[in-house]
Amino acid sequence: MQPFVLLGVTGGIAAYKSAELCRLFVKEGYAVQVVMSRAATRFITPLTLETLSGRPVHVRMFGSPRSRVEHVELGAQANLLVVAPATADYLARCAAGRANDLIAAVTLAFKGKVLAAPAMNTNMWENPVTRRNMDALSSLLGWQFVQPGSGELACGSTGPGRMAEPGEILVAAKQLLRRDLEGLKILVSAGPTVEDIDPVRFISNRSSGRMGYAIAEAASRRGADVTLVSGPVSLPCPQGARLVPARSALDMERAVGERAGSCDVIVMTAAVADFRPAEPSDHKLKKGKAEEERVVRLVRNPDILAGLGKRFAGARRPVLVGFALETEDVEAAAVSKLKTKGAHVIVGNLARDAFGGDRNEAVIVDDAGLRESTGPVTKSALAELILSLVAARLGRAARE
Ligand code: CTP
Repeated sequence: MQPFVLLGVTGGIAAYKSAELCRLFVKEGYAVQVVMSRAATRFITPLTLETLSGRPVHVRMFGSPRSRVEHVELGAQANLLVVAPATADYLARCAAGRANDLIAAVTLAFKGKVLAAPAMNTNMWENPVTRRNMDALSSLLGWQFVQPGSGELACGSTGPGRMAEPGEILVAAKQLLRRDLEGLKILVSAGPTVEDIDPVRFISNRSSGRMGYAIAEAASRRGADVTLVSGPVSLPCPQGARLVPARSALDMERAVGERAGSCDVIVMTAAVADFRPAEPSDHKLKKGKAEEERVVRLVRNPDILAGLGKRFAGARRPVLVGFALETEDVEAAAVSKLKTKGAHVIVGNLARDAFGGDRNEAVIVDDAGLRESTGPVTKSALAELILSLVAARLGRAARE
């Protein structure tokens, strides 16, 4: 089926480049629906984009005879929303959850992937508020950005802020529209496990689940049948993925084990607790009057990934991907975990980056000798990278 792209154009001088972008999308075979802000229409006429896309361009929030809930309907069919140029003001409004014009409302109502190509004056680009807004959009909503280039800007100054070239935006959009995992069954584990001491107390860890959810989201978008086995986190289940909640390591072991045999790929991002209380109480534990010290005896939890490594030793499938969370010497630890866990791929990262922040600097190692440092990347970008590696292993696509 022909991909359907919503092309948002907001009001900056770079709007003239949107015409070329629209033409490239159409040439690529995409159906394109353009939505413009009113300010954008001062830089480029809707007629230009209407002619190139072959569809009426939407600008106004009210008064359209076409649909009663246009902002919802416009996005309902689209596979991707590309906003180019994305002005500082548009990004700020989206980060604040505003819906004060059609393009902002369409964006807020859109449930799919968003790719934005910021364009603005250097000072606006470098303003920490703009950075904060972009970080929020990327970490909360998984937005991806095509970074602006450096050069002469419309205001006469020189510096970063110039919108990326249409060809570059097309490449990023193509990556987000690929369906190279179609027909594959992928299981992703995510989040922390929670090990109960009694009905009101537990031992857990600070895993946010964001890495696993980013992988589940990307895998599902790329066409895989995704099951997400997740410890308790406060993230919405990505569109298209099947959520299987699991609280403790033992729950997670069961949930993963029951499904593992039918999977092509298993990605263990979960921060599984290595130990659990030996005797969890079914009633709330009370403190004794003179009790100054309490010892909670812990016993080892099963290593789920190592268990899978043993169970599927020598088999090509499922491809087993594990994570190694370290405080130092990431690559050496990742290589050693390849062996001890019997995994095909290990993604090593620093605890400092992995918990909380949106950016990771990972080292990916595999059983064929790959040793690759990613540099600082967002969790979304890292998810795409890992899946491309897996796709290549399964003969799905050349690595990008
Ligand atoms: N893992 C698992 N079961 C466990 C512990 C970890 O399946 N009981 C998986 C994780 O999901 C991850 C990988 O093993 O994919 C590595 O987890 P990590 O916490 O880095 O390593 P550990 O095996 O716990 O080793 P250590 O904490 O001693 O470094």
